[in-house]
Amino acid sequence: KNIAVVYGGDSSEIVVSRKSAQGVLSFIDSSKYNTVAVLITLEKWVAESDGCEYPIDKNDFSFTKNGEKVLFNCAYITIHGTPGEDGRLQGYFDMLKIPYSTCGVLAASLTFNKFACNTYLKGFGVSVADSLLIRKGTEYAGENIADKLGLPLFIKPNAGGSSFGISKAKTFEEIEPAILKAFEESNEVIIESFISGHEFTCGLYKTPEKECVFPITEVIPANEFFDFEAKYNAEKAQEITPARLPQETTDRIQKITSLIYDILGCKGIARVDYMLSDNKIFLLEVNTTPGMTPTSFIPQQIKAAGLDIKEVFTDIIEDSIN
Ligand code: DAL
Ligand code: MG
Repeated sequence: KNIAVVYGGDSSEIVVSRKSAQGVLSFIDSSKYNTVAVLITLEKWVAESDGCEYPIDKNDFSFTKNGEKVLFNCAYITIHGTPGEDGRLQGYFDMLKIPYSTCGVLAASLTFNKFACNTYLKGFGVSVADSLLIRKGTEYAGENIADKLGLPLFIKPNAGGSSFGISKAKTFEEIEPAILKAFEESNEVIIESFISGHEFTCGLYKTPEKECVFPITEVIPANEFFDFEAKYNAEKAQEITPARLPQETTDRIQKITSLIYDILGCKGIARVDYMLSDNKIFLLEVNTTPGMTPTSFIPQQIKAAGLDIKEVFTDIIEDSIN
């Protein structure tokens, strides 16, 4: 079976996606599947095979090599950010009836809108930071932001990942520049009150036959928060899997992760990030196309779970296809 490992994207996270694709290519069992990397950017859609690029025919997501048309049985999407994590590619593959590895259009677009997703999950009893949303070109209608949410504040692109464009504003003066920085990544900016505590993240996947909630990872950033540098430079954060947590807390985090997955209708591998503050679990965000680079959490968690990563990827592909 031919599996397209789809990477690239239109956002700053393209640099992460390139590394994730290398991870995914090595995690898919080559004795069972033929893998082809497919790069999708604003400029080009190309299949990469034997060191050459072949244009993708967008009518059926195929390419032609040596006069032979190659069609795909499944797409493993490893684009972080748009268009792979926000539902656009999912919609395209739905139209072509090509199975893919992630959740569908609604879950992807909802989770890729941090404010919408957190507000939605709040309705199901999930705790989230107090937040507000501002849109480019629209004045904020409320009272003074710092009066409303206190200081410090987290200022984030509402649609984005890998901490691009995120700032922690400690003073009133730092708010405006932080908002402008976040607007470089997204047309909407979410401003969240600061939750003091420790960060944890928990990955999982479910198929009709299996439910695997991975061990939790504890994140101890050397920087002010778990920023881009800390995420992809091993020296800038300490990541401990399994997290040193009491069993009761581990159980609660794993249970809420499983619930969130079901509420949203996730598919394939997802990862949910949290802050634990005074033993209370606050959702940070849901990632439906989590990083798969060598330093990413999911490969660490699969290893800590004692699972065979190739078997996990086979499960995901078979569940997508069947
Ligand atoms: N957005 C990055 C890739 C992650 O969540 O792992
Ligand atoms: Mg993320």
